[in-house]
Formats: sequence, structure tokens, C-alpha cells
Amino acid sequence: MSATEYVPIRVTTLRGGGSLTFNAYIRAAGKYHLYCKNGENLQGTLLEKLKEKRLKKMYIDPKDESAYRSFMTQSIESAYDKNSDVPIADRAEVVQGAQQAAAEEVMENPESEEAYNLAKMGTEKYIEFILQEDDALKSVLNIENSESSVSQHSVNVATLAIAVAKELKLDEKHDMELLTLGCLLHDLEHLETGLDIGRPIKDMTPEELSLYKRHPVHAAEKIVVLKHFDKDVIDIIHQHEELVNGTGFPKSLKERDINPLALVCGCVNAYDRMVSFEGLPPKEALKSLLVTKMGLYPLGHMQALQSVLKTKGVVV
Ligand SMILES: [Fe+2]
Ligand SMILES: [Fe+2]
Repeated sequence: MSATEYVPIRVTTLRGGGSLTFNAYIRAAGKYHLYCKNGENLQGTLLEKLKEKRLKKMYIDPKDESAYRSFMTQSIESAYDKNSDVPIADRAEVVQGAQQAAAEEVMENPESEEAYNLAKMGTEKYIEFILQEDDALKSVLNIENSESSVSQHSVNVATLAIAVAKELKLDEKHDMELLTLGCLLHDLEHLETGLDIGRPIKDMTPEELSLYKRHPVHAAEKIVVLKHFDKDVIDIIHQHEELVNGTGFPKSLKERDINPLALVCGCVNAYDRMVSFEGLPPKEALKSLLVTKMGLYPLGHMQALQSVLKTKGVVV
């Protein structure tokens, strides 16, 4: 089989699942190598090595596509099963991996209506999982983001936004789904620019900072012409860096002009940026948010976030 015939799959979709029902290959120096055999489990060292190499994709033989799809469906279904005896931390890994993969798929192919709709459909069960399973939120946030992955940060933001919106009683089903999807895609542009965002913003050069400050508007310009994007999702992507006192970017909007869903995303994003990209432990990040961001997000949102982090045991 020629190399071009292999089909790419996302590593995060294999995380936490059982034994593979297909051969999985990696690509190195233009060649494909068998990495995990049919019947083997891609856990522990094998998975850690992929993480170290920052490999996001593996490959399968096209004849194994249906086996791969069944594997994914089955591992997601059993991860969502409330009566499962599998520990919540393991189930959260599978569920989180599926959300991360769905987010990456849209971030890499925003023009794909199919990818967008799949990510949108996946939000309903995820919201239920986060709100109805006691340790789900904590288990998802506990998955270390050692690579400062934008898509993992996006899942963290979506996860916290779901709980904060519930706390704020902004939990109408349709809004919650759009909020979740918008959060999953809010930093879409970072994948495109290649800018290293895994560090404090104050460490960026003036050129990097100017590129960084254009990420919401660049993304919005790209997606506004795509008919399948919902208006609220576009607003979240465009407005998540706005601040209530009008000192945010790109448009220096005041609170009354910011989409309420973008405000929820913005507040939890400010917190998770410190954890995912600046290496602050949750307790320090919350403290810093409450001190340095006071007056930049609605007080009720900050208090709701504080309450979620404490009641869910993320901050003790
Ligand atoms: Fe952002
Ligand atoms: Fe972000």
C-alpha cells in the first residue's frame, strides 16, 4: 500500500479506550511504522511517548475505517454510561479526548459543515456528563495540559463555562450547546498562526503581541462567511477577549454590547489561560483572577467560577 493511502486518526480518540481493533501506525521521516497492533492497548508508555513527541495523529489502513469508527463509538458510549464501574477519571479521559478531537477537527477545517455539525451534536451529552456526574468536571480539568495544547485548553474552557452558566442560571439548553461549541472553538486562530501561546502574554515581543491581539478578529473574518456557523458561536470567537470596562480587544466593547455567552467564555478563559499556558496551580490562578481581573469581568461571573472551582474540588 502506498503511504498516501493511510487514513489519519486523532490520538485523543484512542485515549482511555480498550484494546485496539485495528493496527495503528505513526509517520516518521515520510514513512509509516506500525506503532500499536490490533489487540494491543494504547496506554501507559506507548501513549506517553506520543505525547512527548507531540504527535496528534496516527494512521490506519483504509480497510480498518469501520473498525475504527465502531471502536470510537463504543468507547464513547461506555464512557458516558453512568452505571459503568470504570473509574470516573478513566471515563473522563475518553470523553475529554472525544471533545478535543471534535474541536481540532473544526479548528483545522472550519469550512467543513460536517465537522461543525458533529462537534455541535457532541455537546449535548458532554453538558449532561459535566452537570450530572459529581467528579466529571474535576477529572477533566485534572488531565495535565503539559504541551500547552490549545484544543485541550478549549475543552477546559467549555467545561468550566458549562458549570458557570448553570450557576448563573444561563442554562437554557440551546444556549448551553452554543456556549459549549463556542468555547471549544474560541481560539481557533491560534492553530493557524503557530504563535507560541504557552507563556505569559507579558513575555511576548511587540510583533507577537500584535499578532496575538488580532486572533479573535482574524478568526471571525474567516468564519463569518461560512453559513453553517451559528451567530452566537461567531460572537464568542470574536468577543471572548473583550472586557466589561471597554479595555479588551478587538473592539473595546462595553459590557452591554458583549454577547452574554462570550462574557462567560471570556471569564473562564482568563482563568484557564493561567493554568494551561502560564503553569499556575488552580488555587494561584483563581487568586490572581480575583485580584488582577477585578472589574474586567462581571463580579457574578467571577464568583460563580470561584464557587464551581471550590464545590467541585478543583481548588481546596
Ligand atoms: Fe483567546
Ligand atoms: Fe483561550
